Amino acid sequence: MSLAEDLQWRYATKKMNGKPVPQEKVDYILEAARMAPSSSGVQPYEIFVITSQSLKEKIKPIAWGQEQITDTSHLLVFASWDGYSLERIEKVFQKTLEERKLPPDTMDAYKERLWSNYEPLSQEWHAHHAAKQAYIAFGMAIAAAAEQRVDATPMEGFIPDELDKILGLKEKGLKSILLLPLGYRDEENDWLVKMKKVRTPKKDFITEL
Ligand SMILES: Cc1cc2nc3c(=O)[nH]c(=O)nc-3n(C[C@H](O)[C@H](O)[C@H](O)COP(=O)(O)O)c2cc1C
Repeated sequence: MSLAEDLQWRYATKKMNGKPVPQEKVDYILEAARMAPSSSGVQPYEIFVITSQSLKEKIKPIAWGQEQITDTSHLLVFASWDGYSLERIEKVFQKTLEERKLPPDTMDAYKERLWSNYEPLSQEWHAHHAAKQAYIAFGMAIAAAAEQRVDATPMEGFIPDELDKILGLKEKGLKSILLLPLGYRDEENDWLVKMKKVRTPKKDFITEL
């Protein structure tokens, strides 16, 4: 199967059948997200994997009561940094230097330039920029799930502040950004399963110059 076919197969599943997704498939999807590119390689986001049914029940009411939240076996929560700091950035660069066995000052100029760009900007800008990076990993996870023939529903339909409270994200310097329940479509009861996929026509979407 090609990636194009995988993307045709997938859809934002509305009704899942409750069958659990095998752990190796979940791991594959998480690994695709971990391998996503990010601005300056900072990866300012994390993923929480929720399998606790009682926790999912707690989240459902603050996610518009969407049934996928409780029908999924694995609810992925993408959470991004609430802001950049020199300390956070240094930690990332330090790890890169160590893993690549580079001299300690190799990345100093780049790091200083990056921080001099970020420092004057607002915390809101930082958090927004970090969230944008999380969306890239989110896209990778969606594609990987489709490749594994695992259904996934991309979700912004929840109250982030409430979810942050439930998961204690503020204390960790994180903000919840996106949800991705994983599971298997309930073909009989999902109104969307047989609907045509609708996208902007190529002629309006792509401009060749
Ligand atoms: C960032 C984002 C947030 C979304 N939020 C929700 C959501 O909360 N609930 C839902 O059922 N679908 C949600 N969707 C699904 C979109 O409505 C869906 O992807 C779009 O209509 C295209 O259809 P398809 O994914 O079935 O091809 C979201 C999609 C994205 C990318």
